[in-house]
Amino acid sequence: MKILVTGGAGFIGSNIVKRLVDLVHEPVVYDNLSSGYCQNLLPQVPFIEADLRNLELLVEAAQGCGVILHLAASVGNKRSIDLPQVDSEINLIGTLNVLEAARYLGINRVVFSSSAGIFGELKTLPIAEGHPQDPDSPYGTSKLAAEKMCLVYNKLYGMRNICLRYFNVFGPHQRFDAYGNVIPIFANRLLRKEPIHIFGDGEQTRDFVNVRDVVSANLKAAFSEEVQGVFNIGSGARISINQLAQMMQKAAGLTADIEYLPPRPGDVRDSLADISKAQKLLGYDPGTDIYSDLVDYWNWIKNDPLSN
Ligand SMILES: NC(=O)c1ccc[n+]([C@@H]2O[C@H](COP(=O)([O-])OP(=O)(O)OC[C@H]3O[C@@H](n4cnc5c(N)ncnc54)[C@H](O)[C@@H]3O)[C@@H](O)[C@H]2O)c1
Repeated sequence: MKILVTGGAGFIGSNIVKRLVDLVHEPVVYDNLSSGYCQNLLPQVPFIEADLRNLELLVEAAQGCGVILHLAASVGNKRSIDLPQVDSEINLIGTLNVLEAARYLGINRVVFSSSAGIFGELKTLPIAEGHPQDPDSPYGTSKLAAEKMCLVYNKLYGMRNICLRYFNVFGPHQRFDAYGNVIPIFANRLLRKEPIHIFGDGEQTRDFVNVRDVVSANLKAAFSEEVQGVFNIGSGARISINQLAQMMQKAAGLTADIEYLPPRPGDVRDSLADISKAQKLLGYDPGTDIYSDLVDYWNWIKNDPLSN
């Protein structure tokens, strides 16, 4: 099947594109390279360098596609707090453009990459899909609004859109950037033999999910014809940031000084996905050995020319 992957030059998108190629599908990448890398592109995969805010180019790119996997986004709480307007232009209006392109072309499924950021501060543990949604950042808010837009297109236009709410994703092709995820940030500091910075007391917890499992969730969502709606995509387990720092030093065979800094605005205290809905309806089946996945990640990043 021909499949448009927006954000296909990014971390998760490029892992999806590789899996689609292995499965002999025909992905097309649509990306403006604002946080993605040319080095993530595959020569045999058509690449359209364009912005989500350009509806005309989106329609052109999606011609002949059976599904759109929509990952392109302005990613993360911190970036959205710095640039709230840009965040909504890309994450909300950009998603609306993807939905309009799909509607215009008669593509009845968009798989939207949403985020656990839509929930805000934890009220019950673990977090099921129906947990109160009270985001703490413009990013969580724009992702929630974009989800609602996907669901309203299901109601109004007979689409079968699926929103996947990722928890903290990690794995190969995830590189350090100033707005990045804690695992590449810690890895980057270990690579440079610099102290690890922890915001707050480090006892805050996160549900880290391997990108391999997020790729599988996207494929299940793309091809589960009867299913639609919202799904949590995590590992179903959590560790503290202090535990993560210890595990990463062990995985790297290195030790680092830990420096504690004040907590950051927009960061939630705890996070843990209830993944039973995705397990039941999508057949989602994530791995559980985070330490061995961190060893694999370290082995990837220490040999990645762009990270060294
Ligand atoms: N990484 C995580 O832990 C995580 C957690 C929750 C949700 N998500 C969501 O998953 C998706 C992929 O995230 P990622 O971690 O791979 O991030 P990423 O930054 O590596 O990938 C995003 C891609 O989108 C592209 N892009 C950004 N703005 C664009 C625009 N206006 N037009 C076209 N392309 C644009 C970037 O160049 C990049 O290649 C995002 O929607 C993100 O919100 C990620």
